[in-house]
Amino acid sequence: MDRLTMKTATAAGQSLPHESAHLHVAGAAPYIDDLPELAGTLHCALGLSPVAHGRLLGVDVATIKAMPGVVAVLTAQDVPGKNDCGAIIHDEPILADGEVHFLGHPVFAVIATDRESARRAAARAKDVIQVEALPSLLTIEAAHAAESYVVPPMHLKRGDAAGAMAQAPHRLKDRFYLGGQEQFYLEGQISYAIPRENNGMLVHCSTQHPSEMQHHIAHALGLHSHHIQVECRRMGGGFGGKESQSAVFACIAAIAARKLKRPVKLRVDRDDDFMITGRRHCFIHDYEIGHDDQGRILAAEVNMVSRAGWSADLSPPVMTRALCHFDNAYWLPNVSMHGYCARTNTQSNTAFRGFGGPQGALAVEVALDSIARKLKLDALDVRLANLYGLQENNVTPYGQTVEDNVLRPLIDELVASSDYRARRQSLEAFNACSPVLKKGLALTPLKFGISFNVVHLNQAGALVHIYTDGSVLVNHGGTEMGQGLNTKVAQMVAHTLGVSMARVRVTATDTAKVVNTSATAASTGSDLNGKAAADAARQIIERLTKFLADREQVPEDAVRFVDDQVEIGSQKLSFEQVISEAYFARIQLWSDGFYTTPKLHWDRTTMQGRPFFYFAYGAAVSEVLVDTLTGEWRLLRAEVLHDAGQSINPAVDIGQIEGGFIQGMGWLTSEELYWHPESGRLMTHAPSTYKIPTASDCPADFRVKLFDNINVEDTIHRSKAVGEPPLLLPFSVFLAIRDAVSSVGGHDIDPPLRAPATPEAILDAVDAVKAARA
Ligand code: MTE
Ligand code: MOS
Repeated sequence: MDRLTMKTATAAGQSLPHESAHLHVAGAAPYIDDLPELAGTLHCALGLSPVAHGRLLGVDVATIKAMPGVVAVLTAQDVPGKNDCGAIIHDEPILADGEVHFLGHPVFAVIATDRESARRAAARAKDVIQVEALPSLLTIEAAHAAESYVVPPMHLKRGDAAGAMAQAPHRLKDRFYLGGQEQFYLEGQISYAIPRENNGMLVHCSTQHPSEMQHHIAHALGLHSHHIQVECRRMGGGFGGKESQSAVFACIAAIAARKLKRPVKLRVDRDDDFMITGRRHCFIHDYEIGHDDQGRILAAEVNMVSRAGWSADLSPPVMTRALCHFDNAYWLPNVSMHGYCARTNTQSNTAFRGFGGPQGALAVEVALDSIARKLKLDALDVRLANLYGLQENNVTPYGQTVEDNVLRPLIDELVASSDYRARRQSLEAFNACSPVLKKGLALTPLKFGISFNVVHLNQAGALVHIYTDGSVLVNHGGTEMGQGLNTKVAQMVAHTLGVSMARVRVTATDTAKVVNTSATAASTGSDLNGKAAADAARQIIERLTKFLADREQVPEDAVRFVDDQVEIGSQKLSFEQVISEAYFARIQLWSDGFYTTPKLHWDRTTMQGRPFFYFAYGAAVSEVLVDTLTGEWRLLRAEVLHDAGQSINPAVDIGQIEGGFIQGMGWLTSEELYWHPESGRLMTHAPSTYKIPTASDCPADFRVKLFDNINVEDTIHRSKAVGEPPLLLPFSVFLAIRDAVSSVGGHDIDPPLRAPATPEAILDAVDAVKAARA
């Protein structure tokens, strides 16, 4: 059968394979470095600052220029336009100017005939960069003590925290250290800039934000946006790391290409990627919680300090999301929260799946775990006692009413299916007769707000074209990074047009097609672009319907598009035939579409409003086995129930949930960042020193289910965003480890377990529990 007329039921809601899956596995999905290089292409590598902070006295350009293969060396003076690529605040020179702010700061760019020569020359950076060292701030604590921040502190308050604290029957005061995380996208940062006629420039860029790259490049070159075209067919992962931080590479490649009038490719080596770009913020949480005998939180005073790094980048909105997720699933009547984005002389931290939400929410989960231990209650019962209510106790600290709360039925279902209560009993029995190996169990819920906190970013556009043979081409403003966005958008277009998926092809994201796009971020990709594309498809259907109804003299509701066919009253025509006839009748067979998320408002100064269109929910139960003599551990079993609303594609969503779970588990258990305390050099700069989870770290027993739900809001297909929320599910892994460690002290002592819970951290916590008991 012809692929284009292949019969399927409606594409929406089906577990169809990722649109590029067959290409991924065959090595036939081109990433930017796979694109054929144009004749005359040059290669770029960056010379990095050898010190964490210093006054830049000069660069011995002549030495580098004399090296084999080197064509040019560029420094800040060679930027023809504005030397800045800051995401929100203009505090980020593309190439260091006057001062270097971290060890790894790009100071010069080497352009050579081949990549090896460029890298060899750039590696001479420490010999040719003349710099006078200045004092540096290398830790969160040092920066906080010096009141060194990238933006003024933020405050989120509700009720009377101090008053309620004073009245509370119990108080818990603690500090929690939470590490950062490298995105570790498999395809590293890359840009390939190609000069075009009349000042034009085409840049192939691995980025979640083509429009922002376009703007930065235009500013850096002193040109207009219409001169610059940024294209991205797919990324080999982004995870937030290519939202703002693709800019420095895109700009440098474009500056070099314009100056030398030749194509220039900049593909960063993995080590350089670690040294130059930022990642998930590490946090220090200091909190005091007032609670009652059942563990209900009455008051919370919270100080969050994040490691912003040397520039603002996205640190302010990351902190906003952290503050707006400290509540997680819980009603907090009185809160006083303060967020500080500490400016340190390290890489500038940025977006990473969850965007601060995971950092904020984990803090309250750790606190609830401690409260339960103190009260000798099961942590699950303390969580249940604090859950948001349905009719009352349902307003978040930032003033949004939780209208779609499914926490209780979701948790109840998971408690039952996972046999939580009985397993808790058998675990205690196991631990009682196992002196070294200890088991731990935890169930944690999540609630995650969906939308950009910045209202105007919640917009999207799309183009749908139907060719005269009935094939369909879709283009939208979102980017594909493996998450299956193009698949979901194609499904919604196929569904709206009443045609099979095989008819629909989605093309590369391109700033010359859909313009002024937002980053594919905040999990909003399919919500925004799916709606925009469906809007475009709907307009074409409306035109075709009117054309057919007029011609056949039937009411418009007698025209239906189903299964690649068009029913007009009792008549049936093939989709192709209708398209062909419509073309000859001069009906427009393509359309643009547009979408803006309704109901949003946000006051940045008071931190109040409705920043989120809706919430996604989920919960997980994890059981671990910890060796309390070595600190090694295994995840024995994990069970997830996650709310993706009415899923557009259950297979893709379950893939996102499994991936998010394991990625979050890596963050909380094995991925450790370490900067040398004197030099500020990031010592964990490659897979040799930085451990991400592998297939063998997945639990042998891993059960992932979608919660049977439908979005109460009018989202695309009534689905819910699923990109980021699952990253919070493995809180259950961290707290199961904490539970196992706690059993060493008969659950009398709160284990001071920091994250990531590496074997070293686990042993430290075991020792502390033993010492406190002795
Ligand atoms: N899944 C894959 N495979 N690769 C990625 O880079 N990024 C995550 C998530 N899932 C990512 C991923 C992040 S950080 C976000 S914000 C969302 O996907 C973005 O895509 P969406 O909005 O279309 O879900
Ligand atoms: Mo995702 S951190 O919003 O790119």
